[in-house]
Amino acid sequence: MTQSGMFDYSNLFASNAPTSTRSENLHAKYDFAVAYPDPDTLPLNELIDSLKIAIDREGRDLAYYPSPLGLPALRQLVSDKLARDRDIHVPAEDIVLTSGSGEAILMLIQALTNPGDVVLTEEYVYSGTLRQMKLFGSDVRSVPCDDDGLIPEALEDVIRKAESENKPIKYLYTIPCFQNPLGWTMSLDRRKNILEITRSHGIPILEDDCYVDLRFEGEDITSIHSLDDTGQVMYVGSFSKIVAPGMRLGYLVAPQEVRQRALSFKAGAANQFAALAVQEYLSSHLYSHIDDHNQALRLKRDAMVSALGENFGDAAEWTVPSGGLYIWMTMPEGTDLAAFQQQAFDEGVGYQNGTMFSPEGTGANCARLCFGHPDTKTITDGIAELANIMGRHGIIK
Ligand SMILES: Cc1ncc(COP(=O)(O)O)c(C=O)c1O
Repeated sequence: MTQSGMFDYSNLFASNAPTSTRSENLHAKYDFAVAYPDPDTLPLNELIDSLKIAIDREGRDLAYYPSPLGLPALRQLVSDKLARDRDIHVPAEDIVLTSGSGEAILMLIQALTNPGDVVLTEEYVYSGTLRQMKLFGSDVRSVPCDDDGLIPEALEDVIRKAESENKPIKYLYTIPCFQNPLGWTMSLDRRKNILEITRSHGIPILEDDCYVDLRFEGEDITSIHSLDDTGQVMYVGSFSKIVAPGMRLGYLVAPQEVRQRALSFKAGAANQFAALAVQEYLSSHLYSHIDDHNQALRLKRDAMVSALGENFGDAAEWTVPSGGLYIWMTMPEGTDLAAFQQQAFDEGVGYQNGTMFSPEGTGANCARLCFGHPDTKTITDGIAELANIMGRHGIIK
């Protein structure tokens, strides 16, 4: 008991359970921080209709605990989609549905790493994965990137350094399409190159393709998985970006041995109720919905790029992605957007500064601006407001 008479847990926690809490997501008036889709683009009526059809047909099966692999019909849909869109040919039996791709990544981290193991990733990377890697004690090392993705020579340097320290490298995690947060898509040559380099050092790749469908310009580039026939590439995807994050559905493709080990870290089957709705909905609306969604995203990207041009001029540089949800803004060295983030939020504009995505905590002069959630007018007004706030506080001279 504590002095206050309450039960004392303080000596019971696992050594890797952080003391920091994860709180409710707070939203600024102009919210460019979150990676959400626009609620107006969610196909709510169609999802209700689809759910009704699926429940009429199979609702009684909800009385059973589902297979840990997840709803077979949705796994079949994933198998067909991967073959068609990503040149990945795996039967439905080899696909595991997960509670978002986040769970798939977490299962792999748990199955593959011991504390202290080196894992490689891009120089700025999805903060959710980074957090999980660190929670399980990974020694996360970043690889410099340019507009085509990971730089092969830099990758070799980072690998050689870890090898010279006798540190095992467990995997390379990459987000090759519309990278979060940097926005680039890895070129085909780079994909081949990266595969070759990692193969020659015996390092597997974890390919996170969760943004691949959000392309509103240019041609698709084939998956890294499709370039490999040795089982070197593990692959995760998500329904969060093409249906809704609230559905909590994603999937994992990996060689049998890896899948089996990863499955032992899975708490239960993916939500069968959500899977029924998504399967029924996507069986007839997959590509029409993606097209509608991407048209809306393109307008939002354009609105953000114009607003940045009008309000920031040469005070910052920013990327112009061909898909995905993010623009990466870079301000001159020495600008501290990390320190300024709370102030900007309090005055109405949310963004995430670069340090939140960096394994080494660098990038305070950078920010990720997400254009997925707000409408175009809100984007235009919000970027102007961000420039105003920065002007008032002397960030922009
Ligand atoms: C690159 C990347 N991977 C995985 C996820 C996890 O998404 P979910 O668990 O919703 O599928 C996200 C979420 O934003 C992401 O950006």
